[in-house]
Amino acid sequence: MSATGRSKAITPPQVAARKNGTPLVCLTAYTTPMARLVDAHCDIALVGDSVGMVLHGLPSTLGVTLDMMIMHGKAVRRGLERALMVVDMPFGSYEQSPEQAFENAARVMAETGAGAVKLEGGVHMAPTIAFLVARGIPVMGHVGLTPQAVNAFGGYGVQGRGADAERIARDAAAVAEAGAFSIVIDKTTESLARAITESVPVTTIRIRASPARDGQVLVIDDILGLFGDFRPKFVRRYAELAETADAAIAAYAADVRARRFPAAEHVFADTAPGAREVK
Ligand code: KIV
Repeated sequence: MSATGRSKAITPPQVAARKNGTPLVCLTAYTTPMARLVDAHCDIALVGDSVGMVLHGLPSTLGVTLDMMIMHGKAVRRGLERALMVVDMPFGSYEQSPEQAFENAARVMAETGAGAVKLEGGVHMAPTIAFLVARGIPVMGHVGLTPQAVNAFGGYGVQGRGADAERIARDAAAVAEAGAFSIVIDKTTESLARAITESVPVTTIRIRASPARDGQVLVIDDILGLFGDFRPKFVRRYAELAETADAAIAAYAADVRARRFPAAEHVFADTAPGAREVK
């Protein structure tokens, strides 16, 4: 039985041990049905604060609350048997002090059954990461483009070009030194992501960055073609589910308006046809 109470569940030390191994496969999940699909194929299910933009229609991740993360974390947990569940700490829930971070991360771990939390930031968050790790909370770091700082960055542009590369390399080193078991490298140049992966001793998981070395993460709605607001360069779409859903809903609407649905086989007779009638 693992620490998460799931006998086959992947643990943070196992993720850390995959350095230079078969690439770690990670997708976001926000609901129980999606978690079940992710669990069948992925090593890590990330309950990302991207849930705010993807499922709640928020303009950025800044409006996501701890209660939202806990609610989605609980839902995802019910769909997982094998994948390590990592829950994002939302904006405002950890930056004030290590103590604030511990109080909120402990809630996330206790209430959702997560195996780890993820938080954004580099050198300035290293003391907080060390504080959590020393108290038994596994932490995944997140450097490069940190979407919760979108206002400070002035957008979602590529990070780490020119002299900025040194800042992000220092961030990654500090996060690894603080004890994070893995680090998301977000939207940096290919060469910087490669250099960081080669220099830190922990696994790196890339998004918007470069071909996977230790691992890759994407937002599930992006690869399924469910999030149609924009089509990012770094995403490969493996399905066009929004188009399929649109066609299905249009067909349903047409059937209802033309009285083709419900049909005789969908309605209940006055007398039960036998023991095998189903709901
Ligand atoms: O919230 C999220 O989905 C993330 C990924 C972008 C890594 O943090």
